[in-house]
Amino acid sequence: MVSRAARKLDHINHALLTGQERTHGFQDVKFIHNSIPETNVDSISLTSQIGELTLSSPIFINAMTGGGGIQTEKINRELAEVAQETGVGMAVGSQMAALKESEQLSSYQVVRKAHPNGIIFANLGSEATVDQAKKAVDMIEANALQIHVNVIQELVMPEGDRDFTGTCNRIEAIVKELEVPVVVKEVGYGMSARTVEILGSLGVSIVDIGGFGGTNFSKIENERRHRRLDFFDDWGITTTCSILEASEANADVDIIASGGMQSALDLAKAIAMGASAGGFAGYFLKQMIDHGQEGLIEEIKAIQTDLRYIMTALQSNTVLALREVPLVISGETYHWASQRGFD
Ligand code: FNR
Repeated sequence: MVSRAARKLDHINHALLTGQERTHGFQDVKFIHNSIPETNVDSISLTSQIGELTLSSPIFINAMTGGGGIQTEKINRELAEVAQETGVGMAVGSQMAALKESEQLSSYQVVRKAHPNGIIFANLGSEATVDQAKKAVDMIEANALQIHVNVIQELVMPEGDRDFTGTCNRIEAIVKELEVPVVVKEVGYGMSARTVEILGSLGVSIVDIGGFGGTNFSKIENERRHRRLDFFDDWGITTTCSILEASEANADVDIIASGGMQSALDLAKAIAMGASAGGFAGYFLKQMIDHGQEGLIEEIKAIQTDLRYIMTALQSNTVLALREVPLVISGETYHWASQRGFD
């Protein structure tokens, strides 16, 4: 069986090779141009609220790594330094490795050291117990815990889980016992309205819909298998359809959009569809590997600037105002919404 550390490095390498699909659905979404926006770029505020967390801009570096020895420690330190420099939040990758092998601790703790006052998300899978959840949060003095649900990835992963019973009970217990907010996140398959409603009923107040159309874990895991499960390569709800699903859910949850996010325009559309912030994973990793920390810092600052310009054009001085702007939706996202009976 492949070691956990080797798997972490395999994921990074295959994610970089497999790349981002850009089939997230944002091409179906258009803003309605306003010729007379009575505002100016300097009065735009990017501050965003997710649950009780305040982000200085609605962008964060989503969960990727840790637990794979010095290589993943270096990536996490570099990403955290970028997050510190740009003032964005950051999630670490699954901390189960460090809960099982204490020599892996530093590859996560380096993130809090490099970003001492930033918003940091802890991360564990839905197999985690309450005790493990508390330890993961304490390990990096996290402001929130992400619990990832990744059934398709596990099924395609040769050494993955095959039993998914008890997930709701464990999530509910963690939400009850933790002092920080819990974000339940998908990893590229999206969430349905029904899933979001069930999560809401368990007390979850933030969901990261992790839609289809960006990093594709079925393709990544299929690269690691002899007999491929190709039918899962096209499985999942696109990012745009999933934001609509979560917005339509009868649940009091804040929505984080992720899955193929690469630009301020993707982010602005996600917010206008109902999200409070966007998580960027594969694209930011690739930017940093290809162009170094400076390259990623420049890219994040450019996304922040571009978002201000887009918000100016739409006369939206705040992220909350951007959520109210009208949109025209076409293509597959339109067909999905109309078949699902969404307005
Ligand atoms: C991930 N992702 C991830 N998610 C999670 O909750 N825990 C984890 O440990 C990891 N590990 C991981 C490694 C690598 C190399 C990548 C690229 C991604 C999933 C990630 O947070 C995100 O949900 C998906 O990648 C979809 O977003 P993007 O990549 O399309 O922006």
